[in-house]
Amino acid sequence: MEIYLDPSDRRGVARSIYDQIREAIESGVLAEGDPLPPSRELAGELGGSRHTVTAAYGLLVAGGYLAGRAGGGTAVCRTAADRRSADRRSVLRPVEIESAPPTASPPPPGGVDLRGGQPDRALFPTDEWRRCAAAALHRPLPGYGEPAGFASLRDVLAGWIGRSRGVIVDADQIIVTSGAQEAVHLVVRAMLRPGDPIAVEDPGYPPVRLLFEAIGLRVVAVPVDGEGIVVDQIPADVKVVYTTPSHQSPSGVTMSLARRRALLAFADRHDAAIIEDDYDSEFRHTDRPLEPLHRLDRSGRVAYVGTFSKTLSPSLRLGFVALPEPLVDAVSAWRQLFSVQPSALGQLTLHRFIERGHLDQHLRRVRRIYRTRHEIVRQFVADGVDAGALLPGPENHAGLHLATVLPTDVSEDAIRDEARRRGMAISSFAECCVRPDRPNGLLIGFGMAGADVLERALPDLRRILERA
Ligand SMILES: Cc1ncc(COP(=O)(O)O)c(C=O)c1O
Repeated sequence: MEIYLDPSDRRGVARSIYDQIREAIESGVLAEGDPLPPSRELAGELGGSRHTVTAAYGLLVAGGYLAGRAGGGTAVCRTAADRRSADRRSVLRPVEIESAPPTASPPPPGGVDLRGGQPDRALFPTDEWRRCAAAALHRPLPGYGEPAGFASLRDVLAGWIGRSRGVIVDADQIIVTSGAQEAVHLVVRAMLRPGDPIAVEDPGYPPVRLLFEAIGLRVVAVPVDGEGIVVDQIPADVKVVYTTPSHQSPSGVTMSLARRRALLAFADRHDAAIIEDDYDSEFRHTDRPLEPLHRLDRSGRVAYVGTFSKTLSPSLRLGFVALPEPLVDAVSAWRQLFSVQPSALGQLTLHRFIERGHLDQHLRRVRRIYRTRHEIVRQFVADGVDAGALLPGPENHAGLHLATVLPTDVSEDAIRDEARRRGMAISSFAECCVRPDRPNGLLIGFGMAGADVLERALPDLRRILERA
């Protein structure tokens, strides 16, 4: 590296040498083990005194940047990353939270991603979205808008959920949110105080359970059977139940009509609210959807949550909640306090995207693609059951993953580790369960793996299962 000295630099020569070498280490220009020129040589090059260079090296040694080498001379002894993290040390201690759900790590480069949940990035309707965003920018962006979201967007959302799910609400009952996660958060903020009990499904969707725990709610994990959440096991003092009836996350169970009625009756009996997370019902592959709880509800107890994380992209952070009328003001007030509103550009683009029919068009296209993938994985599971490598589990009709049940003596972890060694990342029930008597199984996602990839990877997974 070159060192430059500026005669007018008031730091002095030693300090200037020190700063330049330190910056080179911190920026990665000099790496751990790189030798520095002998002090005499550097002094000669700079036309300065050896004593000055030695003083600068001494400071760098004291700061932990340089160290003497066994055979003589001086070398870099810390990586830039080490140094930066040391500089960022602080005495502050945050309140501990378990924030990131323990999800399977991504596959190695070139591997196969069979983790559940995310749509195929290659299917995002980039051209239409770009055109809608450009059109939204024809006018100057608005200033702070309504915390509930832009009225024009709420209008088309009300129309869209009416058409697609039979959820009939006025536009002013809709709050636009940053995904389903924020929608759920806002509803519980409006309904509960720290310490209040809330029921979640077990197995269930970890980010929501962890959110409830992080904000001090008393989370009650209620088992799920072949008909959905076991209503008889919801404690009577629970005031909010969070549930995923269309496609239970992660087991895939569709809540039966009888169970839907039982849950609504529970809510009526105990004056409770229900958060219905309808996160992926747009992808219904093999049967007809049942009526949402919201549609069956006669007492206005259901907050219906939707998201564009599955249909478009989770990175848009766009979702919504259709609220019972008495919650609208409270939820808007929390919304204002948290973050005012989601990005205006995202909202205006989504408005145009739906209004111009692009969402319907996009869904028609991707449904065909995901249905093919769903069928490949469904067949894989059926063959696994026939061969005795898997146990019969709940029918999975919807969404972007299928849940499979493993024989009790087969370890999820062992299968996952072996799959990883063979370049496949896969999720399991372990990540989604609270109670020890949990199901043992894998969640095979097909959102991020195309049909050709599945056809190549699943035989490999079958061999791993058969050997187990
Ligand atoms: C049950 C459930 N709800 C919601 C979501 C999406 O959440 P968000 O809209 O916050 O991205 C997911 C995504 O995996 C999910 O599994």
